[in-house]
Amino acid sequence: MSPTFLRLSALLILAGAVVARPAARACTGTISSLDDVDDAVECTTVNINSFTVPAGETFNLDLADGTTVNMLGDVTFAVKNWDGPLFQVSGKDITFNGNGHTFDGNGPSYWDGQGGNGGVTKPAPMMKIKISGTYTNVKVLNSPARVYSVSNPAPLVISKLTIDDSAGDAPNSKSDGKAAGHNTDGFDCSTTDLTIEDSTIHNQDDCLAINKGSNIVFQRNTCIGGHGISVGSIDSDVTVSGIVIQNNVIQNNDQALRIKTKASASDSTVTNITYSGNTGTGLRQFGVLIDQSYPDTLGTPGNGVKLSAVNFVGSTNSLTVNSDAQRVAVNCGSGSCTGTWDWSALKVSGGSAGPITNFSGIKNFSQ
Ligand SMILES: *[C@@H]1O[C@H](CO)[C@@H](O)[C@H](O)[C@H]1NC(C)=O
Ligand SMILES: *[C@@H]1O[C@H](CO)[C@@H](O)[C@H](O)[C@H]1NC(C)=O
Repeated sequence: MSPTFLRLSALLILAGAVVARPAARACTGTISSLDDVDDAVECTTVNINSFTVPAGETFNLDLADGTTVNMLGDVTFAVKNWDGPLFQVSGKDITFNGNGHTFDGNGPSYWDGQGGNGGVTKPAPMMKIKISGTYTNVKVLNSPARVYSVSNPAPLVISKLTIDDSAGDAPNSKSDGKAAGHNTDGFDCSTTDLTIEDSTIHNQDDCLAINKGSNIVFQRNTCIGGHGISVGSIDSDVTVSGIVIQNNVIQNNDQALRIKTKASASDSTVTNITYSGNTGTGLRQFGVLIDQSYPDTLGTPGNGVKLSAVNFVGSTNSLTVNSDAQRVAVNCGSGSCTGTWDWSALKVSGGSAGPITNFSGIKNFSQ
């Protein structure tokens, strides 16, 4: 190689370095207040100490690729009625270790039983996760409303999380006798290549809601008190496929397993949804609810969402509903549920049988 070529190459490399974001350095950045964030994210190790995020600000970590984040203390968010999010993290190939530490959303200061439907403005989602890699061992306490929104740019494994909104089960002085926490969805996902596992979610809305996407696995989680594990609500022009929901425990939820598509939706497809080895007890309204009339329950269904290959296979899904609940209800739009669905691994007991309307493709199951 000629010296000229070498000099030219060096120049090009330098030019590249100037144009791109500064290369992350092999240093440790420490965050003890929001003022520390800009410097800390230039390092490939970021440690988070205990601190309070000022009201009305997002704790935003825009990380260099390959960064490791270690929580070394709890983070609390001061209260303000604004849209949020309270925390956001982005970057590729990230290792995020919560080490059991807590993000405290100060939910009781917002809760009024109305969630996102009224009352005061509540930051939602509380936590916006836009990383690939791993995100583990993080606790969220008392979210104002929805907890996690996940939109990973490449494969992401979320594990060993705790969401504890249990204090929102009780009414407070503003909630008119209803649970004070409302719309506290655990995970709202519109994404691909995501696994969520070994986590515990105690809330007052969907444990998981998949609005669109593919190749999503939800396994070995415990859902307490909310609205169960949901595909949907499905709007227009979306596709959901390749969803595996297995070995979860669902306790005292409105239903265990639900697919909800909007009556008004058009041009959407939901296919290849597999349930295996899930256990549900204390189910208040349904064991399984597949309903194309959302936001109504078992109302007039729409037929703009094609629904196929919804299977209960593998290990037995064992659900027990309360005495005034229905075991299984399926409400399909005209011609919009198609194919053959294998329900051989579904056992539901208690309550009464629900309606199965406009579809005769369910095999190996009777209630
Ligand atoms: C269904 O989804 C699973 C899990 O993502 C995948 O392995 C399988 O290939 C899919 N089946 C079809 C027919 O697409
Ligand atoms: C679908 O079910 C509803 C009841 O939920 C019924 O009124 C309607 O006629 C059915 N449509 C078809 C095409 O079977």
